[in-house]
Amino acid sequence: MNQPTSINNEQSRLSACPIGLDPHRMPRHIAVIMDGNGRWAKAKGLPRVMGHRAGVEALKRTLRLCSDWGIKALTVYAFSTENWTRPGDEVKFLMALFERVLQRELEALQEEQVRIKFLGDLEALPARLQVLIAEATESTALNTGIHFNVCTNYGGRRELVLAAQKLAERSAIGELDPALIDENLFAAELFTASEEDPDLLIRTSGEMRVSNFLLWQLAYAEIYICDVLWPDFDATAFREALADFQSRCRRFGGLDPVPTDF
Ligand code: IPE
Ligand code: IPE
Ligand code: MG
Repeated sequence: MNQPTSINNEQSRLSACPIGLDPHRMPRHIAVIMDGNGRWAKAKGLPRVMGHRAGVEALKRTLRLCSDWGIKALTVYAFSTENWTRPGDEVKFLMALFERVLQRELEALQEEQVRIKFLGDLEALPARLQVLIAEATESTALNTGIHFNVCTNYGGRRELVLAAQKLAERSAIGELDPALIDENLFAAELFTASEEDPDLLIRTSGEMRVSNFLLWQLAYAEIYICDVLWPDFDATAFREALADFQSRCRRFGGLDPVPTDF
């Protein structure tokens, strides 16, 4: 007899979880600052852009692992509002790479039921890329698999300012009482509206900063920094990050659980 789907799903989730990890304590949403592409290339005597190309493979690998291991959402930092200050050739290469990868991978994303979204100030991106982004977003919107958010021309401060502007506009036309603005209303104006906050932030390449990433959403994320350069981030490095996450005690401002006879 066939088992109900929910039991099948639960079983496949438990069997897909890597050995040594607790399937019941996996993060639901992981955010990643994919850093170190340039240094990876330099160490190999290659031009920086080769690091970005290798970084795409690491991203595909990580998305597949997240999907296999039952993680519900992956949000990655692909291009910051500050990255425009890089040499023109590198920026141009990155924009062309985003276009190429999106074109090439859309079919696979569909097959895997990935729901892709691009978070950021998208109007500043090249027109062709904007069209591809709109197509990919629309065509995967009803997919039932992992939520894959690609932060492109994203800046945490910019996101907060835009949210404040939208709330101010609604208040100015009398649609919203400013006294009613609370955390939920504010969060609903962010690019990440309707997504749960990340449980875990991973930053590769050893840099210990948030670089304007998800300033609101990371309020209570566990932060994991590893020395691995992004193109080398693989299943072993990822498993280590998850094991570290599972060793943490998340208090959210409260206290550690205490024995009941205390
Ligand atoms: C991250 O790698 C990718 C982007 C910012 C687009 P970097 O390009 O920052 O690599 P490093 O930090 O210079 O090694
Ligand atoms: C953060 O990395 C942005 C992305 C990974 C896209 P950067 O390399 O731009 O950050 P900084 O300059 O070291 O802070
Ligand atoms: Mg960097």
